[in-house]
Amino acid sequence: MEPIFFLHLTDTHINVPGKNPLFQLDMTDKLRAVFAEAAKLARKPAFVIISGDLTQDGDVDDYRHLRAVLDEEQAKLGVPIHVSLGNHDSRPAFREGFLGEAPSEQSYYYNVMEGDLRLVVLNTQVPGTNDGRLDAEQLAWLKDTLAVPAPAGTVVVLHHPVVKTPSALMDTHLLDNPDDLAAAIAGSDVIGLLSGHIHFNSIGLFHGIPSAAGTGVAFGLDPTSTDSMKFIDNSGYNLVLVKEGRMIVTPQAMPGDQRVAFEWKIDPDKLHAHA
Ligand SMILES: [Fe+2]
Ligand SMILES: [Fe+2]
Repeated sequence: MEPIFFLHLTDTHINVPGKNPLFQLDMTDKLRAVFAEAAKLARKPAFVIISGDLTQDGDVDDYRHLRAVLDEEQAKLGVPIHVSLGNHDSRPAFREGFLGEAPSEQSYYYNVMEGDLRLVVLNTQVPGTNDGRLDAEQLAWLKDTLAVPAPAGTVVVLHHPVVKTPSALMDTHLLDNPDDLAAAIAGSDVIGLLSGHIHFNSIGLFHGIPSAAGTGVAFGLDPTSTDSMKFIDNSGYNLVLVKEGRMIVTPQAMPGDQRVAFEWKIDPDKLHAHA
């Protein structure tokens, strides 16, 4: 079976240019820089997946802007771009501004075949919070979907990661119900999980399945800080190869000045924040 090569981007945190710029960084420029790198790769990816926190503010105009940018980049790269939602996203605004649908709180999840590989894209955001959870509807759908295996297996995309990190702060931001996910994918053809949210590369095993959280396209976080969230001006994305039934992830760093753009001291008793 032919290997399948694709790109995993996450946490683009885009707003309409000029609106409420986060840390004085231009997130649209950062996303375009990643696509410029992608165009220069010696191996062309089959598709691109962006795993949530698409926008910073989650307004309809932000999604219209993102859609225009992604349409342009998709036309240049010549491959599909799939997206999922994160805690910074708004389902109604996404449906209206990005999909051109009537606004609704309906969660956004789907599966798509890319050649022999099945991509399952879940919606872990809990509206109105920064928490991540898979609801009963998605878990039932997931189990049903995985009942028939795909020729090259399945990669599951979810914004909130499931593997512990070096950061006690960020460990409070993982998926709230990993056991439910484990039960839904047990015995299935899932060969890998891809996430974002924590804004640094974190790779481990989840019930024997490789799980990779990527750093943000928009910014990074210090994975070792114990008493603050240090937002860093860096960026990256993942090269992902599916070959012989395995998912192989190669993190790529983008040029950046690595400065701490913002530091947020955290009360250890109140660890929930805004990745
Ligand atoms: Fe994020
Ligand atoms: Fe997030």
